[in-house]
Amino acid sequence: MNNKLYPDSHVELKEFTANNYDKVMNIGTLGLYGSFITNAVANMHIQPDDHILDLGCGSGRNAAIMYRYLNENGFITGLDISQHMEKHFHNKFKNNNQVSFINQRIDVPFDLKKLFDKIFISFVIHGFPHEIRKTIIQNAINHLKPGGIFHILDFAEFDMDKMPRLHRFVFKKIECKYAFDYIKRDWKEILSTYGFNNFSERFYLKKYIRLLNAQKNG
Ligand SMILES: C[S@@+](CC[C@H](N)C(=O)[O-])C[C@H]1O[C@@H](n2cnc3c(N)ncnc32)[C@H](O)[C@@H]1O
Repeated sequence: MNNKLYPDSHVELKEFTANNYDKVMNIGTLGLYGSFITNAVANMHIQPDDHILDLGCGSGRNAAIMYRYLNENGFITGLDISQHMEKHFHNKFKNNNQVSFINQRIDVPFDLKKLFDKIFISFVIHGFPHEIRKTIIQNAINHLKPGGIFHILDFAEFDMDKMPRLHRFVFKKIECKYAFDYIKRDWKEILSTYGFNNFSERFYLKKYIRLLNAQKNG
């Protein structure tokens, strides 16, 4: 991606990272990423005929795991802006008519003219200025069925100053100022102002990562 809208953000990926994202994650986590993401997706409690929207879907690695839970009535729609991610996504789902990719920005209002049972966003929302995150949340609530679930897999809320020194060093090295802001916010409180309730959460990786499940009011 050449023209970053948010120059400080790390979620608008450079070409090399986008092309090798899955490998980078595997190496960066010493091979633990596969079991971590499989476990996190299991905790979404996907139903066989769910229609799922994946915001900033990347290479389709997560979609491929979610797809295992679906029957022939289930469907996954992935949105992303990276042409490199799009290529990887299409390679994974060749001849599969239950999974589709749309080149769509998630940080501007959009209308897919469809409501979903679940919306998943994984390691994307932390990377935007807070005002822009509000648009992403509004897009999510607008595209969920009443009672549908918004699943946010991302950093948990924690105090960077209380991290062990090595953890803080790594976090500061790999993350951007928007992530430093993201971890300070009360996400249940924020989401409740948009019409979400019934929160549940699972923590991973020494509680630095969280899957936050938020239900749209019925
Ligand atoms: C850190 S990667 C995470 C990818 C995937 N969700 C995962 O967990 O493997 C961030 C993704 O967000 C996408 N992205 C960044 N800005 C975006 C935007 N404004 N709209 C849609 N996708 C965006 C990037 O292209 C990239 O695929």
